[in-house]
Amino acid sequence: MKAKLAAGNWKMNGLSGDLIEIETLIGGLSASECDVLICPPATLIHRMHDMAIGSDLLIGAQDCHPELKGAHTGDLSAAMLADAGATHVILGHSERRADHGETDAIVRAKAVTALERGLTAIVCVGETEAERDAGTTLAVIGTQLCDSLPGSSVAAHVVIAYEPVWAIGTGRTPTLEQIAEVHAFLREQLTDRFADEGNGMRLLYGGSVKPENAQAIFALANVDGALVGGASLKAADFARIVTALSDAK
Ligand code: 13P
Repeated sequence: MKAKLAAGNWKMNGLSGDLIEIETLIGGLSASECDVLICPPATLIHRMHDMAIGSDLLIGAQDCHPELKGAHTGDLSAAMLADAGATHVILGHSERRADHGETDAIVRAKAVTALERGLTAIVCVGETEAERDAGTTLAVIGTQLCDSLPGSSVAAHVVIAYEPVWAIGTGRTPTLEQIAEVHAFLREQLTDRFADEGNGMRLLYGGSVKPENAQAIFALANVDGALVGGASLKAADFARIVTALSDAK
């Protein structure tokens, strides 16, 4: 059975002084029955990795370049992230799609490289509010999924995160029915394309997940965990989400 995954995305937050949160989180992890991952800004990956040695905490990154090295000032390759201690990388987050013009083709190229370097790719999809209002949610997500995932995707190294753009950092979440509908659709698409591997890929929900709503979301079919932004910054909040996931189903 696939392990559920509680993933924290620190986005552009986190200085040395915030490493205390990781110390606290690690201290409370022993009873966790799910995979627990924090994706800090790249500047903290190495230090968090060193702190996490001997614990069950996994450390990931928030992006990588499609190429492994070369003249790309300011970018980081999958090889560098793995070298710093990352085991996972978030790809195609809507903030990167919006801020950096990342297309599905770019996300796919990044995923190919990440998989080649042994990183697990957490590929993000999600509709804008206008797309939901227009009734095109499933069409939009279907295209993103199809065009962002490489043919080499396998369950052990590809995770999908459904993050409705309008639910990120807003305190608004879709209804449980809406989350269930999208996750069932994602599972169907993945199984159609990747058969058993698609059936085994973990599907995370992301967008204003909090300790207060985590339990209800994790009870849904085809929800195998969460990608958490704001509520992952404080160990106490994130630990409650991890507990909700460990206790689910
Ligand atoms: P929030 O949990 O802050 O809404 O962010 C979600 C997210 O974008 C995680 O990648």
